[in-house]
Amino acid sequence: MPRTNDASVPTDGYSSSDFLRLTEAAALAAAKWVGKGMRDEADQASCDAMRRAMDSMPIDATIVIGEGERDEAPMLYIGEKLGRGGPKIQIAVDPLEGTNLCANGTPNSISVLAAAAEGEGWLMHAPDTYMEKLVVGAECKGIVDITLPPRVNVRLMAKALGKDVEELIIGCLDRPRHEALISELRETGCRVQLVPDGDLSVAIAALDQDSGIDGLMGIGGAPEGVITAAAVLCVGGDMQARLKFRSEEDRERASTMMNGDPDRVLVTEDMARGSVVFAATGITTGDLLKGVRYGRGFAKTESIVMRSAVRQIRRIETTHLDSLDRD
Ligand code: FBP
Repeated sequence: MPRTNDASVPTDGYSSSDFLRLTEAAALAAAKWVGKGMRDEADQASCDAMRRAMDSMPIDATIVIGEGERDEAPMLYIGEKLGRGGPKIQIAVDPLEGTNLCANGTPNSISVLAAAAEGEGWLMHAPDTYMEKLVVGAECKGIVDITLPPRVNVRLMAKALGKDVEELIIGCLDRPRHEALISELRETGCRVQLVPDGDLSVAIAALDQDSGIDGLMGIGGAPEGVITAAAVLCVGGDMQARLKFRSEEDRERASTMMNGDPDRVLVTEDMARGSVVFAATGITTGDLLKGVRYGRGFAKTESIVMRSAVRQIRRIETTHLDSLDRD
């Protein structure tokens, strides 16, 4: 099939909008559980919906980042094969990123995935551990360095962006482990936006000059980190990361999976390479996307789709006329 520079047109048997359907399905399913305080039910509903939608696609999909290892996750586990057959695609999924946000009805829960066709793109098979992340937009690419103290990176960022340090906003998960990081950032004079959950949304916001967030710093989930790297690859920002292990066993596992030093600094291309698709749909309204909204007999979703090969960012609002009839 001929190559095209339209992000929505198939280039290898599937189109980016095929993946959009997966995040939309998961978001619509999770939306029914918004604000009900039932995180497991919301998670289950989004997983079921995404898995069902993926299994009906004409692809040969392998989950490389999912809900966990086979023995702990009954569906969308790492290594699960889905689809009706077709091009071989690696898929990294987070059907409900921000489970607590959804259960509490608070902003920024999204459904998200990244995909790469075998031979065209590649996604890291990340262990389910933590990852220290530094994510900045294109203007700061090649300027920051995760091995430098955060205060130095903040100054470098301010210079690259032509702003005063006081004008910067750095997003960070609100966790006790970030106490020293938050103090150091505040001492520079920059502003810190603490989020209760969902560092993936913050990272994506940091890639957009208009979002008001200039960067993401701190430790979050490694699976979310790989999906973030796919988005960074699509829009040309910069991501640097280091895996953080909870145990020696985790480190050994990572070392086998990664075929090398598991403590090394990872750059975007160590986590996502070549032609990748990134898709996200809002569940609760947040900085990045509007959440699922219901009308009389319909539901509306807002999504973002990006494809690294064509360097386009699409925002798509979909009206689902039959969404309320679905189980
Ligand atoms: P879940 O949706 O899986 O609950 O993840 C939410 C999240 O906040 C991620 O955005 C973040 O990367 C990770 O959890 C941080 O983990 P922890 O809550 O253990 O600090």
